[in-house]
Amino acid sequence: MYIDPPEKVSQEQITIDVREIEPLLEAPPMDLKPWPGAKITLKDGRQMYIREAKLEEAPMMIAYMKRVMEIERDFYDVVGARVLAELLGWQRKRLKDPYVLVGLINGQWVGFANGRLMSQDINISLHTMALARGGRIGAVMYYTKAYYAFEILGNKEWWATYESYNGWHRWGLGMAQPSYPWPEYQHELGGARVYYVTKKYWDSMVKNYARQMVGADLDFNVPDELVKANEVMIAPEEVLV
Ligand SMILES: CC(C)(COP(=O)(O)OP(=O)(O)OC[C@H]1O[C@@H](n2cnc3c(N)ncnc32)[C@H](O)[C@@H]1OP(=O)(O)O)[C@@H](O)C(=O)NCCC(=O)NCCS
Repeated sequence: MYIDPPEKVSQEQITIDVREIEPLLEAPPMDLKPWPGAKITLKDGRQMYIREAKLEEAPMMIAYMKRVMEIERDFYDVVGARVLAELLGWQRKRLKDPYVLVGLINGQWVGFANGRLMSQDINISLHTMALARGGRIGAVMYYTKAYYAFEILGNKEWWATYESYNGWHRWGLGMAQPSYPWPEYQHELGGARVYYVTKKYWDSMVKNYARQMVGADLDFNVPDELVKANEVMIAPEEVLV
């Protein structure tokens, strides 16, 4: 937009360094406590290690997600496309306070869960994905990010929504999550219903979820060998979903 200046000016052009624009586009980070890393034993006895994804892993994750979003089954396409956008948002610093957790078995990437903090109190669940099916890996990944929200970050509420039947079944129904009135409240993922968990409800009911789903809890006592075995994340050669 242009409007003539109301006074004579000595410089008609002002050059702006993009580094001066960036602080306006990038949200100042809240300095989140990191996810410490945990292991869990799946039903079939395999040990899954859940750690934060590293920013340098983003290109590999994005490349793999481009393939996952081609799968027109069980809503992997729409969830894949949205996860791809969120990974780019994380990489390019266009998400406010994001966190990205990955589930790994012997270095292989099998699970994904991410979210972001709307405020000190409200944690927005973005997406969860099982990249290998049948092990309840997705169920555990979602539980893990809610654990991170309530137990480590000290958030008061968890806001989620569901794009797929499997997601709704796992957590909307599986955690008996209430929802806020709709359309007054809308989740940022497409304006769907906001399903929520409060800290009180987490403490009284939801904390037992992983034990019920896979018969084990998160274990933060992780041996060095397991950390080492999962230091380098490798995407499956094929899309396995
Ligand atoms: C939702 C999701 C994360 C749940 O993952 P999960 O807990 O690991 O569960 P799965 O989807 O693998 O399996 C769901 C059920 O179907 C069965 N199943 C479905 N497809 C299967 C397959 N290809 N192989 C084996 N089992 C399969 C599982 O055994 C499981 O049964 P169970 O309830 O007895 O354990 C996963 O379905 C997913 O990534 N979906 C696409 C993305 C998505 O919808 N994300 C959530 C957005 S709301």
